Amino acid sequence: MHFQAVIFDLDGVLCHTDQYHFAAWAALAHKLGIPFDEAAKDRLRGVSRMESLDIVLGGRKDAFTPAQKQALAEEKNAIYRGFLQGMTPADLDQEVRSVLISLRGHGFRLAVASSSKNTKLILERIGLDAFFDAVADGTQITHSKPNPEVFLLAAQLLQVKPVHALVVEDAQAGLEAAKAGGFYAAGIGPAGNSALADFHIGSFSELLQILQKQPSFPSL
Ligand code: BG6
Ligand code: MG
Repeated sequence: MHFQAVIFDLDGVLCHTDQYHFAAWAALAHKLGIPFDEAAKDRLRGVSRMESLDIVLGGRKDAFTPAQKQALAEEKNAIYRGFLQGMTPADLDQEVRSVLISLRGHGFRLAVASSSKNTKLILERIGLDAFFDAVADGTQITHSKPNPEVFLLAAQLLQVKPVHALVVEDAQAGLEAAKAGGFYAAGIGPAGNSALADFHIGSFSELLQILQKQPSFPSL
């Protein structure tokens, strides 16, 4: 195992926007009179906006025309973006910030790979818009996670082979995507116990312990 790069998922890994996704979907479901199942939350992680909508609509997903579904997805996105407008660089955890800076200092190439079409806005809000060597997001891909497309694009932009990159994910769909693309994967949060993950991390700083086993990583 020789890592040259780390590829981070965004929502639920670099920042807590996963909670805003859930709150926005819950508001839409409430308006439609559809129960928003807590258990559905983890199924929404990593998958695209339109696939998330089908999960939220559940048994009623075929009751809406494509145009109505588009309008519902836009309505959710407007609620979600309202939450994003309140974000500032203070929403970037100190632990995340210091691990990113440490990894950068040790020469790892760093990327974001997210299914979200709001990736640029979020990175701007938390002050990371100019930080990463590459950003691959929902505006650049045809298939969202669990398809590996977004991770393969990030690796291509970084000019690293998947086998030399560690993906950090909070979603089962994201871990499936990473493994399908030939990457090593670290699961955090809800994905922290997944059998698909090569590494399980309880907190962001544990990444340093994984990566400092690298020959090129001086002991901290
Ligand atoms: C992923 C989230 O990062 O982005 C999903 O985990 C979300 O929950 C997906 O559906 C798409 O996000 P957006 O911002 O394009 O609606
Ligand atoms: Mg995520």
